[in-house]
Amino acid sequence: MELKEQFQKKYPNSFFLENHVALVEQYLRQQSWIQPKEIVQSLEKPGEGNMNFVLRVKTNQRSFIVKQARPWVEKFPQISAPVERTGVEAHFFRTLAANPIFSTYNPKCLGYDENSFVLAIEDLGKGTDYSFLYQENNQLTKEEIRSIAQYLSALHQLKPATDFPQNKAMRLLNHEHIFNFPFSEDNGFDLDEVQKGLQEIALPYKNDKELKAIIQKTGELYLSEGKYLLHGDFYPGSWLKTATGLKVIDPEFGFVGPAEFDAGVLVAHLLMAQQPIEVVQLFLSAYQQSDDFNSSLLARFTGIEILRRLIGIAQLPLNLNLAQKKMLLETAVKYILSEQIEL
Ligand SMILES: Nc1ncnc2c1ncn2[C@@H]1O[C@H](COP(=O)(O)OP(=O)(O)O)[C@@H](O)[C@H]1O
Ligand SMILES: [Mg+2]
Repeated sequence: MELKEQFQKKYPNSFFLENHVALVEQYLRQQSWIQPKEIVQSLEKPGEGNMNFVLRVKTNQRSFIVKQARPWVEKFPQISAPVERTGVEAHFFRTLAANPIFSTYNPKCLGYDENSFVLAIEDLGKGTDYSFLYQENNQLTKEEIRSIAQYLSALHQLKPATDFPQNKAMRLLNHEHIFNFPFSEDNGFDLDEVQKGLQEIALPYKNDKELKAIIQKTGELYLSEGKYLLHGDFYPGSWLKTATGLKVIDPEFGFVGPAEFDAGVLVAHLLMAQQPIEVVQLFLSAYQQSDDFNSSLLARFTGIEILRRLIGIAQLPLNLNLAQKKMLLETAVKYILSEQIEL
């Protein structure tokens, strides 16, 4: 059965978002998301995404972004995913909208339709996300690192609203792909298809009982109650490079949890993007840790994120040879076991 049919069977009263000007215009009018005289002129894919169906809507007056969650991962439709994720994103943007720090980084939420899981947000302009960092000779500028650190510090200093959704289903999905799947010997994912020889260098990590026990324990922390509002997916794919600076999007994995998770994921990606040590150091010194910040946990989350990105299903557009990956895997394990980040 086609995906659209599947969706309509499961949600007969919902709108299925697709690249069709007349249908989208009709839907936006029903939602009162466009003015009576506003006309949709074109629709385009605004950039690479992973989980959702995303369009830039251009009208005769402005442009904005619409994003629909379907009960699957857009890039891997065979993987199911919870549809309430766009609602979490709406909640995140709305919670932060009143605070001027976040309004310089996040798009405004223009509307959320819980009946069809569609989110409308401000268009931050034609930028690219920061995935280019994984390609050779691309470095974050000092200003960009300071922006990233400022954003994350401010986020983790907030008193999280007690009504922030638990986002349990998304966390369970993420938990599976961070803490379980990559380390299961018989997960059926052939790493040699990613890169010849990768399967073999991954094997020791899948067979290491001590390492796996620590990863499991750390995974439980990811699922437990925390104190800080997290972005939940704080990596270069969630940052946009725009004419007015670095922006932060895509907080669908957000939840109230351990601050070390956001920070650890970020450090892991700086290392996988082969950023110079000074870049990582600058982030670590500019990021304002809370009093109870646990650097052992930071080291563990960092190491685990490196491992899972190299040997799990959520692969990155990395430009690394096998020897470089092997070195990164070894570094990651060192961080996890020693509970220390040694640059
Ligand atoms: N508010 C926005 N302004 C401009 N471009 C955006 C905006 N939101 C998303 N995009 C573009 O669309 C892409 C996919 O959006 P994203 O929110 O990351 O979706 P997904 O959850 O599927 O990863 C982004 O990488 C970016 O290029
Ligand atoms: Mg994204």
